[in-house]
Amino acid sequence: MTTVLQLSDTHIVPTGALVSGRLDTADALARLVARISSIRDQIGSIDALLVSGDLSDDGSAESYARFKTLIAPLDLPTYVIAGNHDARDPMRIAFADVLPNAGPLNWACQVGDIHLIGLDTLVEGQGGGTLAPESLSFLQDAFSKAGKAPVLLALHHPPFACGIGFMDDISLTNRHALRDVLAGHAGPLRIVCGHIHNVIVSDVAGHIAISAPSPASTFAYDRRSSAPVGFTTQEDGCLLHRWDAGFQSVRIGPMAGSGPFPF
Ligand SMILES: [Fe+2]
Repeated sequence: MTTVLQLSDTHIVPTGALVSGRLDTADALARLVARISSIRDQIGSIDALLVSGDLSDDGSAESYARFKTLIAPLDLPTYVIAGNHDARDPMRIAFADVLPNAGPLNWACQVGDIHLIGLDTLVEGQGGGTLAPESLSFLQDAFSKAGKAPVLLALHHPPFACGIGFMDDISLTNRHALRDVLAGHAGPLRIVCGHIHNVIVSDVAGHIAISAPSPASTFAYDRRSSAPVGFTTQEDGCLLHRWDAGFQSVRIGPMAGSGPFPF
């Protein structure tokens, strides 16, 4: 059995700053980390932490240092991919132990029974994402190496349309090229992403893809063309993915209710 905790879209800023003048994202992440720590014995052992982009809101070196301090209590091997708010070079320096020192921030590694693959969809200066041709071949290659072993594949931009107009306007531009590669892979695969600050499960080329919530904010699931563009302050937790002869994914909310009470 192998378990990977997925955090996404933490949007950390330097000390003293607020996101959009309103959100204290560091406080929100600290609350979630404390919540996870408080239920560690219930969850069972966790093998790694995967962070699926927008670790930082401004791409600053200070925000990455602050992020690392905030997740330190989890004491987990940490793997990161870039989101549209991240900046490659500061991220590369902050996570030099897991990120390549040149080119796109793609990587593959073994965590327990799982082949973990991270892809770089960042187009610096843009909200939308793209997989460069070399990233698509990296994925093809990583699939070949994984064979029939379970794969957990992470990319920031979802490989599906979510229905929230202002987020679909800044989505993955070459979803179809990715789908072609995914359709050719026959082994067990779970695709995980972030970006849309919502838990949405979608079928993609015969596989299941899940987007993670954000610990700091949520975009309303509002499919109307008149939907207001913006965020709500709902803190929505994170995901936990477990491989045990099949994948299981569960959301961990940021708050414990009272109880449990007897039925
Ligand atoms: Fe994003």
